[in-house]
Amino acid sequence: MQDFDLNLQSLRDVIEAAQEAAILASSVAYAGSQMRFQTLLNGVGAIDAAPLIKLPAALDFEITDLPQTLRVERNVTSSLRSDLVEGMLYASRGGKKLRASLALLVSEMIAKREDLHDSTSRRAAEAIAIALESLHSYSLVHDDLPALDNDSMRRGQASCHCRYGEATAILIGDALLSFSFESLKNALSHEFPERNYAMLTVFSEAIGAWGMILGQHDDLSFENAVNAPAVSSVLEMALRKTALLIELSLRLPAMRFSEDSDLDRGLSRLGQALGLAFQIQDDFLDVEADPDKLGKSIGKDEAANKITVLRILGREESKRLLRRLFDCVDEELDLLKRRGYQTLKLESLIASLIDREA
Ligand code: IPE
Ligand code: IPE
Ligand code: MG
Ligand code: MG
Ligand code: MG
Repeated sequence: MQDFDLNLQSLRDVIEAAQEAAILASSVAYAGSQMRFQTLLNGVGAIDAAPLIKLPAALDFEITDLPQTLRVERNVTSSLRSDLVEGMLYASRGGKKLRASLALLVSEMIAKREDLHDSTSRRAAEAIAIALESLHSYSLVHDDLPALDNDSMRRGQASCHCRYGEATAILIGDALLSFSFESLKNALSHEFPERNYAMLTVFSEAIGAWGMILGQHDDLSFENAVNAPAVSSVLEMALRKTALLIELSLRLPAMRFSEDSDLDRGLSRLGQALGLAFQIQDDFLDVEADPDKLGKSIGKDEAANKITVLRILGREESKRLLRRLFDCVDEELDLLKRRGYQTLKLESLIASLIDREA
């Protein structure tokens, strides 16, 4: 896919394949650096020729791309590393790929207006999408851990820690988090260094102790709280734990491909409204979804005594808030349209979320 002409139907599969290929490609490059390491150890006589790492079988097809010197030394061992790579792929599989889809559609929307049809832009958009999806998968792996939400089902399969054990799942999450930066690096621009600075700033600020992780921390600390938190604190928690990453999915492409600060501000408002609505829907789904369609168990929020937006506002008020939030999203889409952006695909994706069952 050289140009921006995305097919909404196949977007999820394309993203999944691209994410898996990126993880595998990085692990092959990593194998190269391990072999240099091994040569050094051999040189100082620390170990004999015992190989250090083992490439997962799935990587064999990539091997022909490696230089000859690396190819001869590929017979190496370490089951831990292949578990990690396999686990990263396992945790990345399935799901709606919402964040990546939003990022690619916004990239396409800007590319059409700015006439950006080069393969570098296309690759940068994909790298942003993969970074977001890797970050999201990491957050789910850790969210499901026994010490957090203790969930055994995710995306219709056993949660990562049920499949790989708790310790490895923690490391798989860590590896996906690190990989998200590795992927974001591939989206940086040689031409506009100030855009790189802006992208790295918003990305790192949104996902850590001032953003998503603070939201996760508040979510946990509200469980069994002696005094019920204020409504505003619960909304803030939901904004942080979920909406910031969705906002980021819209803003990163804007920062990479455009200097239009009104566009950035509009997408930021759109992302926050959509992201908060998305989390409130998730609260509803935990109460009333079909677990087979949802791919995760239901009733967990109540069982864990979570304070969700749904619980603190009640059903009616939460529905009303959802409608208001989707109205805000519509207003922002209208503004974009009026400013000459083609929003049709973005609108279809968002419309498909309104009555989502998963
Ligand atoms: C689930 O996110 C966790 C929340 C932030 C609400 P998604 O509903 O996007 O999960 P996947 O990616 O489709 O599995
Ligand atoms: C998860 O929120 C938010 C993050 C992972 C950052 P939830 O705990 O509500 O998500 P689910 O319901 O387990 O998917
Ligand atoms: Mg949680
Ligand atoms: Mg959870
Ligand atoms: Mg939930």
